[in-house]
Amino acid sequence: MYRTHTCGELRLNNAGEKVTLAGWVQKIRKMGGMSFIDLRDRYGITQLVVDESASPDLNTTAEKLGREYVIQATGIVTERTSKNSKILTGDVEIKLSEINLLNASQTPPFTIEDETDGGEEIRAKYRYLDLRRAPLKKALELRHKMAQETRKYLDGIGFIEVETPVLIKSTPEGARDFVVPSRMNPGEFYALPQSPQTFKQLLMVAGYDKYFQIVRCFRDEDLRADRQPEFTQIDCEMSFVEREDILNTFEGMIKALFKNVLGLEMNEQFPRISYADAMKYYGSDKPDIRFGMKITEIKHLTGGKDFAVFDSAEYVGAICVEGAASYTRKQLDEITEWVKRPQVGAKGLVYIRLAEDGIKSSVDKFYTPEDLTAIANETGAKSGDLILVLAGDKKKTQDAMGTLRIEMGNRLGFRKSDHYAPLWVYDFPLLEWDEETQRFYAMHHPFTSPKPEDMGKFYSSNREDIANVCANAYDFVLNGTEIGGGSIRIHDSAVQKRMFEVLGFGSEEADYKFGFIINAFKFGAPPHGGIAFGFDRFCALFGGQETIRDYIAFPKNNAGRDVMLDAPSAIDATQMDELFLKSTVKKS
Ligand code: AMO
Repeated sequence: MYRTHTCGELRLNNAGEKVTLAGWVQKIRKMGGMSFIDLRDRYGITQLVVDESASPDLNTTAEKLGREYVIQATGIVTERTSKNSKILTGDVEIKLSEINLLNASQTPPFTIEDETDGGEEIRAKYRYLDLRRAPLKKALELRHKMAQETRKYLDGIGFIEVETPVLIKSTPEGARDFVVPSRMNPGEFYALPQSPQTFKQLLMVAGYDKYFQIVRCFRDEDLRADRQPEFTQIDCEMSFVEREDILNTFEGMIKALFKNVLGLEMNEQFPRISYADAMKYYGSDKPDIRFGMKITEIKHLTGGKDFAVFDSAEYVGAICVEGAASYTRKQLDEITEWVKRPQVGAKGLVYIRLAEDGIKSSVDKFYTPEDLTAIANETGAKSGDLILVLAGDKKKTQDAMGTLRIEMGNRLGFRKSDHYAPLWVYDFPLLEWDEETQRFYAMHHPFTSPKPEDMGKFYSSNREDIANVCANAYDFVLNGTEIGGGSIRIHDSAVQKRMFEVLGFGSEEADYKFGFIINAFKFGAPPHGGIAFGFDRFCALFGGQETIRDYIAFPKNNAGRDVMLDAPSAIDATQMDELFLKSTVKKS
């Protein structure tokens, strides 16, 4: 037996017991004639002591130890004179009688402590060392717990987990596919699934009316803190359901996760907001409702005062920043510069201060105190508040207002990671028109059903009508992050064909790409709908982080590389030949 206990297990009531532990040497300190060794494993850290009474052999072995050596150590559990309240084993130490060196270690390239001195690149290269650190261990444990609780909950209400293939034909979800050449079918490629969307719908046709899968998805898209090229979804689908059934079922799952993983009871129904209202009040389709600061449209209060910027704008919006009237000119100038950054895209910023000595603005030349008071009243501002105003094209300005609102929320400390504000957003537009390619794109994916009341518009030949069709789609949003998205699906092959037509696929192309699903719908497809949650994002937010990387054991970097494996990498000429591939990249 390698060990009698783990390094996180021993307490005062074990005092006097002879124990054997195994683990990694985290730290060695020498004091007087004694050596103190912090021994670490997955469960914690225990202090080992080699004192003067130890045999010369033991002292010699202890001398040889270095950081991250793997040892087996035997000794007697003893009460510590100076206790360490920071660790659970801090009341005891082990007076060693034996050390067995199991393996030596090179000096690690960074310290394996909660706060490490290693930069991102070096930690990624030695990910297995980084994973020894407690914060990463905690993240993976949280992920494990989330997966277990998800399975427990869904199994408990009759869902069946079904695995779907990874080598498939392209499923359009808006990103590029990763493709895999087929040796047995020269010149042909599989695609890795961007999601199991079509398979879960085929499972509905097959009669498995409550499906889920914790599944890997692959998307070749630009990476951000909350995006990885391979990521995991809790993918779900149900038959004979309407939107309400889906939202209620998964609200139940989310509440169970909050309760069983974080110990948070969420008794209230999650707020629900339409896409149109989300844009209007929050300038975002994924509003962070941990704080108010709603956007107010004030165009009707700004006209006819000869202020050309507002007069010529399609939209004028304002937010009231509570208690910020004391912002200095310098601070306001800095915010003005901030909104002009390309990521925000506003042309400028107007402010109105409700200071103690009266109402003042950056447009006093055009607006009287009465005009400004009318605006202040509309936004609900009171004395001591600051109003920030942006104007311009409606969609762009709403987006910019949304970004500014989040920035002010950050600056004022309203976005605390341990405060959770979930909500559902519903009634998204079905399609988006792209000027560049002069065609419609599905806002969610091409299997999403138009709302029944918009079916007429969906079949219209007028582009405006089609652009205004509302989708029976919904998102689950947590703290300003889109965690889940889903929809009620098209289950009628004729409607599905129409969708491909609207998306600009010719009948032949639609048959080539999606014939299998159009055909399946001809064999008694039930009404169905579903949702998929970004599992990595869910875990990260539960862990209080916005970056998903630490919740994935072996993630890719921002360039999509695994720096530990050094992948992707070239393959040799024989492999290329076998796959009938030729590279056009010139080797330097
Ligand atoms: P969607 O494309 O909205 O829907 O994806 C669902 C959720 O997956 C997460 N997600 C990602 N997480 C990390 N890295 C990425 N690159 C990434 N891309 C997406 C998000 C998102 O909300 N098949 C549909 C679902 C359905 O209709 O049932 C789908 O995949 O949290």
